[in-house]
Order: sequence, then structure tokens, then C-alpha cells
Amino acid sequence: MDHFLYRDGILHAENVPLPAIARDVGTPVYVYSAATLLRHFRLFDEALSWGPHLVCYAVKAASNVAILKLLGDAGAGMDVVSEGEYRRARAAGVPGDRIVFSGVGKTEAEMRHVLAHGVRQINLESEPEMRLLSRVATEMGVTVPVTVRVNPDVDAKTHEKIATGRSDNKFGIPIARAREVYAEIAKLAGLRVVGIDVHIGSQLTDLEPFRQAYRKVADLTGILRADGHPIERLDLGGGLGIPYARSNLAPPVPSEYGQVIREEVGHLGCEIEIEPGRLIAGNAGILMTSTIYMKEGEGRDFLIVDAAMNDLIRPAMYGAHHDIVPIVETAPGTDRRPYDIVGPVCESGDTFAKGRDMAPLGAGDLIAMRSAGAYGAVMASEYNSRPLVPEVLVQGDRYAVIRARPTLDEMISRDTIPQWLSEA
Ligand code: LLP
Repeated sequence: MDHFLYRDGILHAENVPLPAIARDVGTPVYVYSAATLLRHFRLFDEALSWGPHLVCYAVKAASNVAILKLLGDAGAGMDVVSEGEYRRARAAGVPGDRIVFSGVGKTEAEMRHVLAHGVRQINLESEPEMRLLSRVATEMGVTVPVTVRVNPDVDAKTHEKIATGRSDNKFGIPIARAREVYAEIAKLAGLRVVGIDVHIGSQLTDLEPFRQAYRKVADLTGILRADGHPIERLDLGGGLGIPYARSNLAPPVPSEYGQVIREEVGHLGCEIEIEPGRLIAGNAGILMTSTIYMKEGEGRDFLIVDAAMNDLIRPAMYGAHHDIVPIVETAPGTDRRPYDIVGPVCESGDTFAKGRDMAPLGAGDLIAMRSAGAYGAVMASEYNSRPLVPEVLVQGDRYAVIRARPTLDEMISRDTIPQWLSEA
């Protein structure tokens, strides 16, 4: 459930009519609902309320500092994968002891930064990384809590670009080698084993792969404890999927996911961490855009909108479906026609949807691409020299720009011409 609903025929974000935001901020623009973000975070929190736990929001999904502050103030921890994300979480007021540092390629500089400023745990992904972290921690005179991300070799049954738990993916260490890796860590100075980490992929719409992975983690917990390692925390990753098309069968909900966790690892007495991103932010955001032209092609009509693949890359990159709806509700009984909804970027891949049935639309009409809150703004670029898309947060009947649209001058002024070219 989200808080983007029609009222009197106009799509609202909570109590704010979206046309008001379009007038004020212009389009394209991302609009987030605070109530939806909080609701989704609390669903996970409640789903794990049977034991000690921390829901660490995956910052990569939507990393605006205002969103992090909203969730952090509600008690969320954060899962970060770079110093940039770590600094965003800290700028939002999230204490270091609620921040988990994940990622396959942490640099020495990033390690030094988080160790100096406080971190809950570092999820290690390889042996060279653990040796480097041991050296850095020792030099800094600290001991850092660590887990190892194990790769359980299960098929997450999701899009190949976002599956991470198969043995041929770059992530984690093979679960079969976990014992020897933990044995080496136990000998390394500056590292303190606290648990095990696993993450098998994103947009999972079936609980079975989670169950398989968590069962393997439970078995491994027993083995590692018998070897003398203090496994007291399990980081079970993110990945629960969301309904992108409202017509689809609904994927499992957080309470069902929490139940699977309880059944598979609840008996171990561990503190549970999870790292959901998409389910918290995805349906809490829309991308609002205006039509520029309606162009009749041969056998198909194109709706050319002012958002493009640089603003929302998911359809071009993963063939992802996003529901696209008019901001002014279509009256019942209105004839619809199929449109290809495309952006202005000079690539055929700049297509949001093909043959989407919509009521006839004209220049300047507003439409919303739904479920765009996760992996939307964060993956935006300036391709075709289109300024980064702004972001707005709505809460109740208030709204605020949480990232302004840069001016074209600001965008261009970041480039510098070398002296030798200016002298000519
Ligand atoms: N933890 C780790 C270690 C991750 O790699 C990810 C996502 C998450 C948590 C959060 O997963 P979520 O709950 O959001 O599924 N850009 C792609 C998704 C990439 C996901 C990357 N890792 C997309 O637009 O579908």
C-alpha cells in the first residue's frame, strides 16, 4: 500500500495534489511520500519483533539525506556500500553503531574513514579485503566487528543483473570455504567476528530462495560455533520484491518474510539484521513527467515526455515495467489507445513503455511513473546534458524540495578548460 491516491480525480501524494508540485518545481521530478517510507520500514520492524533485530535500510535504493533522516529518526539502521553513502547516513544523524558497511570493493581510505568515525560492523567479501582491514585496524589501534558475506549458491529466480547469490557471481566467499576463512580471521589482529552475512539478490518475489539461503546460514552457524567462533549476529541481506504492475499477483509481504526468518534461524538466539531497500523506497516514490508531444507514427503513437532514460534507467537497463498513470484521472468509459511512452534522449532504448493503453493525452499533460522511489533518482545521470532530476518529499500536507534541480549553468560550470586550450 502506498499514499499516492486519486482524490477528486487528481493524483495526490498524501494530501498534496501533484499538479501543485509540478507548477512549483517543474518536471521531471521525483516525489516521495514520507508516510509510505515509514510504513514500509515499520512493517519490517514488526516482522522481526519476535527477537532482537535491526532493520538496516539499504541506502543505495534512495539515498537523499532527507529520506535517511526520516528513516534514521524512526530507528532504522543503514546498510552502506561506499564512504559517500556512509557520510550521507552520518549527515542524516544516524550514529555509527547503526551503520553496516557492505560492498565488494572497499578501499583502504574508506576503511580508515568508517573506523575513525564509528561503524556497527563491516561485512567482508574476500580474503584480500580481510587482510587489508586487519592491517588498517591494527595501525589505527582499533578492533572492528566483522561478518563474512557467504555466497550460498542458491538461485534467487530474479533478473540476472540483480541476482547475487550464485557461485558464478562476484559477491561473497563460497559457503563451502567459510570454515577456513573464519579460521584465518580468528588469527588476524584488529578483527572480531560477530556473525555471518548473506544477500542473494534483489526483487525476489518468491520466499523459497530466501529459505534455502537462510537454512544454509543456520547450518553454518552451528559449524562455526563448534569451531569456537562467536556467531551472535546474522545479517540476512535485502531483496524482498515489490509489485511493479498493479495487475500482478502480489509478492510476499514483510510479515511472511519475517516468518521465514524466524522458522529458519529464529532458534539460534542471534540478533537479526536485514538490509531492505526496494521494498521501503520503491512504492514510496513516483517520477512525475509532462508530455511534450504526441507524435503519430506508422502504426503506433508516441508520447514524448520530458523524463528520459537518464532520469529513470530501469526500463532501459533491465526491461523493467513501471505502471504509468495520468495525474488527472481518466473518466470511466473514456476510449484508450496504445502509446509508446518515450523520452527525448537520442537512443531507441529511451523507451519507458510500449503499447501502453492510456486515454488520449496532449502536450503539457502530467503523468506519473509509479514504483520509481528505489533505484530511480540514485541511478540518474546527466546524459544528453540533462540536469540531474530534482527530488521532493511530501509529508501530510507539506512538501519540500530535498534536492534542487541544478541550473544548466551550474551543470556546465563544473567542467574546466585547461590553460593550454584557453591560450590559443
Ligand atoms: N544488501 C546488499 C548487499 C545489496 O547488494 C542490495 C542491493 C541490498 C541489500 C538491497 O536490496 P533490495 O532490498 O533493494 O532488493 N538497480 C537494481 C537493483 C540493484 C540491487 C543491488 N543490491 C534495480 O533497479 O532493480
